[in-house]
Amino acid sequence: MINEDRLWNRLMELGKIGKQPSGGITRLSFTKEERAAKEKVASYMKEAGLTVYEDAVGNLIGRKEGKEKDAPVVLVGSHIDSVYNGGMFDGPLGVLSAVEVLQTMNERGVETKHPIEVVAFTDEEGARFSFGMIGSRGMVGTLSEEELVHQDKNGVSIAEAMKEAGLNPSEIGKAARRKGSVKAYVELHIEQGRVLEEANLPVGIVTGIAGLVWVKFTVEGKAEHAGATPMPIRRDPLVAAAQMIQMIEQEAKKTGTTVGTVGQMKVFPGGINIIPAKVEFSLDLRDIDATVRDHVLQSIIEQAQKIGKERNVLVNVELLQEMPPVLCSELVQNAAKEACGQLGLDIFSLPSGASHDGVQLARLCPIGMIFVRSKDGVSHNPEEWSSKEDCAAGANVLYHTVLRLAMGE
Ligand code: GLV
Ligand code: MN
Ligand code: MN
Repeated sequence: MINEDRLWNRLMELGKIGKQPSGGITRLSFTKEERAAKEKVASYMKEAGLTVYEDAVGNLIGRKEGKEKDAPVVLVGSHIDSVYNGGMFDGPLGVLSAVEVLQTMNERGVETKHPIEVVAFTDEEGARFSFGMIGSRGMVGTLSEEELVHQDKNGVSIAEAMKEAGLNPSEIGKAARRKGSVKAYVELHIEQGRVLEEANLPVGIVTGIAGLVWVKFTVEGKAEHAGATPMPIRRDPLVAAAQMIQMIEQEAKKTGTTVGTVGQMKVFPGGINIIPAKVEFSLDLRDIDATVRDHVLQSIIEQAQKIGKERNVLVNVELLQEMPPVLCSELVQNAAKEACGQLGLDIFSLPSGASHDGVQLARLCPIGMIFVRSKDGVSHNPEEWSSKEDCAAGANVLYHTVLRLAMGE
């Protein structure tokens, strides 16, 4: 069994970094808060007896050697960046549990055939640049220099932020791992939904991760005087956007599985007495079935154009990124099932609605995830919570899953 007090204390300590007056955590990539979090985790990795280094995209890695030095590595991890005003478990639970697993192994003198690495991925959330999974894309070798042009709210690009953090954007290729060099990737994460709570179970095994598309809508009308322009002749892009957002909700509801969210909106020029000239809003659309999701997206785009025509405003749709749904491997799912069985826990499987670095890692190696029950299913919110006992149960399942993967062929 892992040391549950140590795991919990570290979660509470890490949860102080980037804490806002509201009680939520804002720890965006390449900021001083993220740097402080990395330093804290690096110190835990050292206490765990790991060799610590950072790769060319800023992934923080702690390595435990295997009996066979050149055997493919078992990767275990998550992320320590957060969304704006997020919670303290989304990401940190997976990183700190992985450190705890390796510290427990080292304290017991457990040696494995395969080397094991704990990884805290750079920018999983995409909160700062609306382009996430930077570290895992880098590790898989799909991150290109052209993609580093994405900007944050202040116009700072990923490349510029990397330089400020002491990284060289033209060297990101060095973070790429060779195919065959990673045996499997495993991540422990909070569920961020209500399935485990309703099933009254602390831990579940993930079957697959829903695929997402991120889209930017730009609606252009005409800025005019709010007092002097009669209602019938206005070309108001904000009213058109409001109609589109309601339509998006209706379209997503039709399938029963798709979820669609508009989380960002900018109104230009943003004056109280000016009919807006332009509105930009985002769409996050997900489904475990890519065909269903893409069908919904097509319908949304067609109807947005129709609304645009009716209201005499221009509608532009830009695809920011697309990630396919990904299945978790039998290898990791079976290891996790055996681990649950050994610990006397129910074996319960569920899909993930949230996205994770495993979506990227799946291009490189078999992946799998273990979920821990979330209180009221709340996440991306300061109220995010999982109990100490549930976190420990998840970390113990992770321990025995990793042990199986690192011992076996
Ligand atoms: C990350 O948390 C995501 O699913 O957007
Ligand atoms: Mn996460
Ligand atoms: Mn998240």
